[in-house]
Parts: sequence; C-alpha cells; structure tokens
Amino acid sequence: MATTRNTLIAPSILSADFARLGEEVRAIDRAGCDWVHVDVMDGHFVPNITIGPGVVKAIRPHTQKPLDVHLMIAPADPFIAAFADAGSDSITVHAEVGPHLDRTLQLIRSLGKKAGVSLTPQTPESALAYVIDRLDLILVMTVNPGFGGQAFIPAMVEKIARVRSMIGSRPIQLEVDGGVAPDTAALCAKAGANVFVAGSAVFKNDQYAANIAAIRAAASLPN
Ligand code: DX5
Ligand code: ZN
Repeated sequence: MATTRNTLIAPSILSADFARLGEEVRAIDRAGCDWVHVDVMDGHFVPNITIGPGVVKAIRPHTQKPLDVHLMIAPADPFIAAFADAGSDSITVHAEVGPHLDRTLQLIRSLGKKAGVSLTPQTPESALAYVIDRLDLILVMTVNPGFGGQAFIPAMVEKIARVRSMIGSRPIQLEVDGGVAPDTAALCAKAGANVFVAGSAVFKNDQYAANIAAIRAAASLPN
C-alpha cells in the first residue's frame, strides 16, 4: 500500500563543520532540509560530549526551520528549560535516562515544546506504552548513540514496524537516527518511519541538496 505520510529529512549537525556552524545550518536550510537535528551529548549517558544550550541559541537565528533537539544526557530534567529557552522546537529525551519519564514529558510540553522519546537499540518499544499519549515524536535509534558514521543496526527495522503499529492513528512523528542513507532510509520508510535523521550521508561531498534529495527519494518510494 502506498504511504501518504509526510516524509521529513532532518540533517544532524553533528557531522557539520563546527567552526562554521551558522553557515552550515544555512546551507542545509537552502539545500531543502525539513528540520535541523541537534545532538546533545554529555559524556555520561553517551561516551561523547558535543554541545549545550548556548550553541542552540547561537544557531537559532540561522534558520526558520524547526530545531529538533535530541538530548543524550542524564539527568535531562535540569537542562530542559535551558534548551527550551534557547529556541528548540522539539525536545527528545531517552527513555533510559531517568525514573520519571512521564514527568519529563509533561515538563517539555509545559514549556510549549513538542515532546519526544528516544529508544536506544536494546530498549523495547514497550517503554512507550504508558507515555504514548504525551508524545509528539518517537525516535528509534538505529545505532548506539554517541557518534556519527556508525553502521545501521538491521534489527531495528522490526522495532520501527512495531512502534508504527503502536502509534496507530495518533499524530506522532516516527523518526529514525543512525546510519541513515538512501538504502537504509528505504527500509525504515517501509517499516513506517517518516522522519529521517542523517549526519554523514548529508554532510558529504559538499553536495547537501543532492544528498538530501537522494534520502527523500528513497524514503518516499511506495511500499
Ligand atoms: C548519534 C546521533 C545521530 C548521528 C547520526 O548518537 O544521535 O544523530 O549524528 O549520524 P550518522 O547519520 O552519521 O549515523
Ligand atoms: Zn540524534
């Protein structure tokens, strides 16, 4: 059955040139991205450290497109207001980072932001069951979070399909992140994903528009 879902491409600025971040954000905007994906890492929940709310605030004036902020930090709650104030449009936390996910999601929405939950590869989709009505976005990690340029984990395709069926008719975006390129995007789209985060597959060869178009085309093929 052909899908009528809205396909959205969200380049991850983790693969951008951090010394020219404003320019890089403007470049992916011009190249036709839908969202700008911002990977926040703390060296604790994941074995890498990236950026904080100050950088989100600094890039905010460089695009009108939604800033999709992916928090890979534990704890998350103490920093959510700062990321909201910095100009995030959606804030996604990992289901694994704290004991009170429901409270965290209420906090994000109380600040007027879209709320997301991400699942690392080993976390079953059942983690979503009792919070699903507080969600605007579900992010299925298709690599272990922490670094760009890793290989897509094929077992996640089945998880994507299960999450899509849990979503049912709810207005929730189903996002995939990690090792997404045209070939893997097609598999994820077929399983039900509609938002495609890609770092290395977008920021390569200085062909951002062509790279985004290739992922979009692969992800938009009829099932
Ligand atoms: C990984 C990040 C991803 C990463 C994706 O922890 O959440 O957004 O940048 O990079 P690629 O597309 O290179 O796998
Ligand atoms: Zn991410």
